[in-house]
Amino acid sequence: AGVFKGTLTAAPIDVSLIDAGKTTFWSYNGQVPGPLIEVMAGDTVEILFKNHLTQATTVHWHGLPVPPDQDGNPDDLVLPGENRLYKFTLPKDSAGTYWYHPHPHGTTPEQVYRGLAGVFIVKDPTDPIRSIPERHLVVSDLKLLADGKIAPNDANDEMNGREGQFVLINGLHQPLIQMQAKTERWRIWNATSARYLNLSWGNASVTQVGTDGGLLEHPIVGLTGLLVSPAERVELLVSAENNVELAAEIYQRGKMGTVAPEKRLTLAQIEGVAEGAAVIIPQKLRSIPVPAPVKAKKKVVFSELMSMENGQHSMQFLINGKQFDMNNIDLISRLGEVEEWEIVNQADMDHPFHLHGVQFIVMSKTYKGQTQASPFVARRDIVNLRSGESAVIRVVQAFRGRRMFHCHILEHENLGMMGTLLVV
Ligand code: C2O
Ligand code: CU
Ligand code: CU
Repeated sequence: AGVFKGTLTAAPIDVSLIDAGKTTFWSYNGQVPGPLIEVMAGDTVEILFKNHLTQATTVHWHGLPVPPDQDGNPDDLVLPGENRLYKFTLPKDSAGTYWYHPHPHGTTPEQVYRGLAGVFIVKDPTDPIRSIPERHLVVSDLKLLADGKIAPNDANDEMNGREGQFVLINGLHQPLIQMQAKTERWRIWNATSARYLNLSWGNASVTQVGTDGGLLEHPIVGLTGLLVSPAERVELLVSAENNVELAAEIYQRGKMGTVAPEKRLTLAQIEGVAEGAAVIIPQKLRSIPVPAPVKAKKKVVFSELMSMENGQHSMQFLINGKQFDMNNIDLISRLGEVEEWEIVNQADMDHPFHLHGVQFIVMSKTYKGQTQASPFVARRDIVNLRSGESAVIRVVQAFRGRRMFHCHILEHENLGMMGTLLVV
């Protein structure tokens, strides 16, 4: 196994996006999204982080199995002007599609919407579809004021999660995607704060081959669309013979208050390729053992509480009836023990559940009184829950220490829909 060494510097950059004025992003290495970090499973990763911002920050390795003291926890701050070496060794079975972003308590949404997020891929030399050319689509969301400045959050953003007027792919608005081969392997990141991507692709033929934590056991052929929740990632094999549109279809996620009607969005134009031989997709991509037997159970309940203050609605976002308190331990797990967590959404909106530092397996979901076992086994670190929905996940902790679990609508996380798990 190798050693990957890199440097990430967080610093502002000015960009001209609209005529009315400059946009100041906060960037990693002057890039928005940040630079791609690509390593091999088994590698040791050493990233020297330099904070050239005026705020304290952290770098969180979303989805990666790294020790808690290297995972950019909310209380593990890198102060302005400071450097910090993040160092971890990735296990052999950690291939997957990850990302990195700040996680300081109180300023995570702002630092992300100002541009701080980048992608991280862990590859496996035995990946059976490694010869298919890859394309990366990092979806982010930009909200600008008329003068080109990045808009601060308003009350609606705080309640429903922030959505902007521009949805970007790799930093570009509605780019042209020129297919380079008959079949491409796409990794798609939903790196938005709160936008649900109900993807559609016209008559392109699409096979899902992976989730957050790498390949599925078997490909899912003939997909006509796919919902990708905030912070979720997917791997697809895409063939487009003619020109089609990649779009986000309307998805109702139960927003509150007076909000603009949902609209279908064009994300990109795809220029197809008709020539060339079709790729034969192996029927078996890999094996994913489901951990068993279950030794402990946990329950996590999402809820919202609406209150009125001076004629203004204010919302509280709670987990197990409480708001996040950095000094609390909310749940305790034992190292190496197979656990089943039931995650229940008693709130009116959708909330995407995320747990740090591990990949879990969704065993079943229950919605409107109907329980459905997951139709396939997949490694994930995000599971979306509709209003009234619940999910049962299986998870095993591989490191001792403090882990966060939270709703990945960043404003909800910031307003308290987060908890601390201590692994002992
Ligand atoms: Cu993307 Cu707490 O994580
Ligand atoms: Cu995370
Ligand atoms: Cu939420």
